[in-house]
Amino acid sequence: MTSIPLCLPDSMTPEQFLAEYWQKKPLLIKQGLPQLVGMFEPDDMLGLALEEDASARLLTQAASKKNGQPQWQLKKSPLIEADFDNLPEQWTVLVQNLEQWSPELGQLWQAFDFIPQWQRDDIMVSYAPKGGSVGKHYDDYDVFLAQGFGSRRWQLGKFCDKDTEFVADEPIRLFDDMGEIVFDEILEAGDVLYVPPKLSHFGLAQDDCLTFSFGCRRPNLMQIIDSMADIATNDSDLFIPMLLPQAMQASGELKAESIDAIKTQLLQMLQSERGDTIIRQAVSEVVSKRQYDVLVPEESINTDKMIAALASGATLQADYSNRLLYNQNNDDITLYANGQLLDSLDETATAMLVRLADGAHLTLNDMEGIDPDEVMEWLENGWIWLNHPE
Ligand code: SIN
Ligand code: CO
Repeated sequence: MTSIPLCLPDSMTPEQFLAEYWQKKPLLIKQGLPQLVGMFEPDDMLGLALEEDASARLLTQAASKKNGQPQWQLKKSPLIEADFDNLPEQWTVLVQNLEQWSPELGQLWQAFDFIPQWQRDDIMVSYAPKGGSVGKHYDDYDVFLAQGFGSRRWQLGKFCDKDTEFVADEPIRLFDDMGEIVFDEILEAGDVLYVPPKLSHFGLAQDDCLTFSFGCRRPNLMQIIDSMADIATNDSDLFIPMLLPQAMQASGELKAESIDAIKTQLLQMLQSERGDTIIRQAVSEVVSKRQYDVLVPEESINTDKMIAALASGATLQADYSNRLLYNQNNDDITLYANGQLLDSLDETATAMLVRLADGAHLTLNDMEGIDPDEVMEWLENGWIWLNHPE
């Protein structure tokens, strides 16, 4: 696949999008992703939803709410064909992590290269017949909603917050009132709608329709603190009891001053070089973790086959369903893949993986000075992908 233009209106620079729209305002990008048109049909996605290893959800909606009964029903994978028998008129099937099944689709992340790779979550598809939807809701993450097949009417309303109330007793987060509708348009195949976090939205299938959500993610403090705790457990210096000033106090009391003195030392440690290292490592591990299990690649490949493919024009690229990233501290580069620190790479391997993490398409010539078996290992680990020319 040749390089993919950015998914932005012609007149907009990535800098402008990030400053004016990102996490602030929705944006319609007409024909932002024309590559999606004709890539998949509804049956392809139904087939995928039935795969044993797929992360899929089937959502059905009764025509109206009957006293006390939930209006919506949710069934999570594994889904079987019988789940699709006798469906009500309104239903949707959702499949997550599509880049793991289709590297060609994963490549479309290149259209969002203005978002760093580590903030990409996954591509999810929703298939719904006419009238299907997942209800009025908001998400905590940024999402680019790309129409792949058929058309969907999108309405956008108010920004929500943690006090927004959801409809009680439903298996998904839904609400009735989206406030004032600020956007109401039908998206056709190839059109893309950027929706910032917490903005209420409602998408109604106009006909048999596939919508691809390019979802982003951000770490939360719970994940970072959890990862810091794991790292700290292996640092024997942190095991040494702290020295604390003693003040007269009742023997049963844990004084606020004592807690403060401990807090001061904790914050001092976090602000020291050791703290920098712990935080850098914790953040890198968290944001490079995969959300979904790795599937075993079907294609059997060995080093000779890889070299032959490269010699006939294939390229090596980062695999979009895996997480490969690096950070720089002074002149030191540290690489992480899928939550793991890569600590046995030489300079050439580091340089090559950095280029791949940055989205380069590498050829046989770029492998000079590197052991092909090492590159083969990266392929086997799934960090990189061999893109055969069409
Ligand atoms: C959908 O594709 O129907 C739902 C996607 C979303 O609302 O985030
Ligand atoms: Co949503």
